[in-house]
Parts: sequence; C-alpha cells; structure tokens
Amino acid sequence: MLSRKASCDSHGQDSSYFLGWQEYEKNPYHTVHNPTGIIQMGLAENQLSFDLIESWLRRNPDIVGLKRDGESAFRELALFQDYHGLPVFKNELVDFMAKIRGNRIIFASNKLVLTAGATPANETLMFCLAEPGEAFLLPTPYYPGFDRDLKWRTGVEIVPIHCSSSNGFRITSSALERAYQQAQKLNLNVKGVLVTNPSNPLGITMNRAELNHLIDFAIDKNIHIVSDEIYSGTVFDSPKFVSIMELAMERELYNADIWNRIHIVYSLSKDLGVPGFRVGMIYSNNETVVDTATKMSSFGLVSSQTQFLLASILSDKKFTEKYMKETQRRLKKRREMLVSGLRNAGIQCLISNAGLFCWVDMRHLLTSDTFEAEKELWKRIVCEVGLNISAGSSCHCSEPGWFRICFANMSQETLQVAMQRMKAFTDSSNSAVSQQQFVNNTRARSLTKWVFQLSSYESEPHR
Ligand SMILES: Cc1ncc(COP(=O)(O)O)c(C=O)c1O
Repeated sequence: MLSRKASCDSHGQDSSYFLGWQEYEKNPYHTVHNPTGIIQMGLAENQLSFDLIESWLRRNPDIVGLKRDGESAFRELALFQDYHGLPVFKNELVDFMAKIRGNRIIFASNKLVLTAGATPANETLMFCLAEPGEAFLLPTPYYPGFDRDLKWRTGVEIVPIHCSSSNGFRITSSALERAYQQAQKLNLNVKGVLVTNPSNPLGITMNRAELNHLIDFAIDKNIHIVSDEIYSGTVFDSPKFVSIMELAMERELYNADIWNRIHIVYSLSKDLGVPGFRVGMIYSNNETVVDTATKMSSFGLVSSQTQFLLASILSDKKFTEKYMKETQRRLKKRREMLVSGLRNAGIQCLISNAGLFCWVDMRHLLTSDTFEAEKELWKRIVCEVGLNISAGSSCHCSEPGWFRICFANMSQETLQVAMQRMKAFTDSSNSAVSQQQFVNNTRARSLTKWVFQLSSYESEPHR
C-alpha cells in the first residue's frame, strides 16, 4: 500500500544510537525529580555558552523585536522567500567561516547555499553528486546519522574506509584504496569520499598528511571530496584546524579539475549551539553544484527571521570573538572533567582536541572481543548504570569495545554524577562481588524489548 521508501529500513531508526535516545526519553535524569533516571550522553549538543547568547539577546531587544534602525522589519521578513537567502546573512556567514579558519581562506558568498541544517546540506550534495546505487566512501567510525542523511532518500550507498585504533583511527592511503577495491567488488561506482573534520565521533582534527592522502586519492580516482566541517569552531586544543579548502589553496589547485570537486558542509548547530534554529550550508567551488543545490534548497529554507537575528549576532565581531574563545575554553575544561572521571574508573579515551564528545576505549570491559559483547556492555551501561552513550558499532567502527560519550549537553554536576556511576560500575565489575549483585544494588531497570531489536546492519559493521 505504501511506497518502498516508507517501508524500507535504511533510515537507521532502529540503530542503538536512536534506541538509546528512546530509552532516555522514557526515564530522563533530573537532579531533583528523577535522580536515578538515565543521563543523556548520546547527544552532541553544545549547551555550554547559552548564557553568552542570552545576554546578547537581552542587550539587543530591537533585533529580537525584528527592528532595524528602530523601524520594524516585520513585513519585509514576513514576505521574504528568496531561496538565495538574505545577502547580509550570507556575508556574515562567510566571514564567520573564514574567522574560524584564522582568516587564512577567504570565502565568497556566491558559492554558499543555505540549507535547514547540515543534515539537508549533506543529502543535497548526494543528490547533486551521485545517482541511486552509486557510492561514497566514509572513514569509520562515522556519525550514525549519515545512514539516514546520505542513503535513505537518495539511494546512494556508503562503503566504509576501515580505520583502526593501531594508528589512532587515522585515514591512510591503503585504507582508502582497500575501500575503493571493496566498492568495485560490490559493483558500485564510487563518486566520492565524505569525511568529517573535526571527526564525529573521534573528536580529532584531520592532519595534513591525511588531507593530502585524501586529495591525492580524489585526483587519482577522479572523484569528489565532501568535507563536513560542522565542528570546526569547537577546536579547543592544538593542533589547529586545517580545512580541506585551505590545503587545496596551499597546493594551488585552483586551476586543477579537483578544485570543482571539493565541497564543504557547515552549520551553526554545534559551533553556535543552535541546532533548533536549523541553519546549515554548502560551500562549493562548482558553479553547477551551487546552482542545483540552491534550487533544491526550496525544500528546506532557513526562515527569514532566523537569518535576520543571526546576521545581527554574527555582525557583532567583538561578541563572536569572545563567544568562540570562551566556548572553546569551556569545552576543553569539560573534556578534561570527562577524561579524568573516566580515568578514575580505569577507562581511557582517545586523545582529542575538538568536538563535544570523547571516543572511549572500553575493550577491557568486554567479556569477549565481539560486537555481541559490545552490545551486552552497552545495554548494561544504559539500563543498569543509567547512561545513554553510543556504541561504536552504531558508528560502524570495525573494532568492538569503543563508545562515544558526549560532555557538552549537561551541567557540570550531572557530568559528575555520571562519572560516579561509571566508577561504581567498574569497581563492582572488578571486585569479587558478582556482577549480579551490582545489578541488585543499583536501580533495577527493566530491560525493555527494544534492546534486543538492534538492526542487522549494526551487527555487520564489516561490510
Ligand atoms: C558530522 C555531523 N554532520 C551533520 C550533523 C547534523 O547537523 P544539523 O543539526 O546541522 O543538521 C551532525 C549532528 O550531529 C553531525 O555530527
């Protein structure tokens, strides 16, 4: 009765990533009202600097009231629906993107396409660059939402580039080549590579060697590069962030074919902490891509009052400078809290310098070196410990035992509670006390049937 789209499961909704959220929704932690509830650590939100934006809004009541130079801009904004977006907003966005990259690159606003978040930006690029049944290569572990964003409606296939803990999950030329060969074996025509830089879930920036491998590979295979740089403003530690565009400029590739095959995705969801405002963008050197993506943006425009408000915030250069510095300082402090809390529980994290999460090594807590054992541990952490974290298998990691833990979507006090729970869990796992006793001592959370319904693609991350 329904379309194939409506009944196909490539949306990924039954991934543990989303199932953990559902479990959290049923029993959310609250300091006073529900202190034994589940703490949400599976959501990459940046709530650390809301106070700064709120104080800007208080200082600028005219902008909030949609006024410009004391005059109401309501009618103009209510009617504005040009899919090119407000020029003033696009100019501020390209300035902001350049600022994050230390003004080493200049961006042109006519190469920018506005979208309602990075989600449609990534999907739109897939529609522009590939046919259904063609493939993009993605380094693993990758953001679980990509199964929905890149594949679901477009029919594009993802082929994993398997990265390994032996070199800190860095992208190598041989891993790229292996993924390409794998796609060929599967009879898939490869159209490009999509990376996230800084990486979600690793929380690390790509280094120059990786970026060079990527560019060389894309030149050699005559394919596209999509660089999702949504976390570029969260880099809180050295080495500094290097954008793919910066490296392409350094290598003076302006006149090479590859120049037109490099595309950046960006959004204000993470750096400015406003995912609810739905502001994303594509930046491309390719005129046809910009043109087509602009036409496609009709399906998900950014509302004009949002553009108006954010253009004003971004035009306050003193404010944005302070906001970015302070946010990065707070993120670094938070990361340190998480890393030391986990260390105290005998758990190590991948050394990171960006993002709103850590990539955490719990291989020693597995009962065997399998994804089954990872799933078991994940269930226990959600249901017994009361922390919704993301299992590595939901990020298609090829090694069991890694987890992504977010640290910027909660208060400092809540993070402390989470770390105390983790410590109690590992202490009880290590002590002579049977694991069963730990279960009895903690809140007996019922294992609802969703935990047994994990989708098959998660149990087969080696595709
Ligand atoms: C790498 C990456 N790309 C895209 C998105 C989607 O962002 P948006 O809220 O702007 O759609 C996310 C959100 O977590 C992400 O981590």
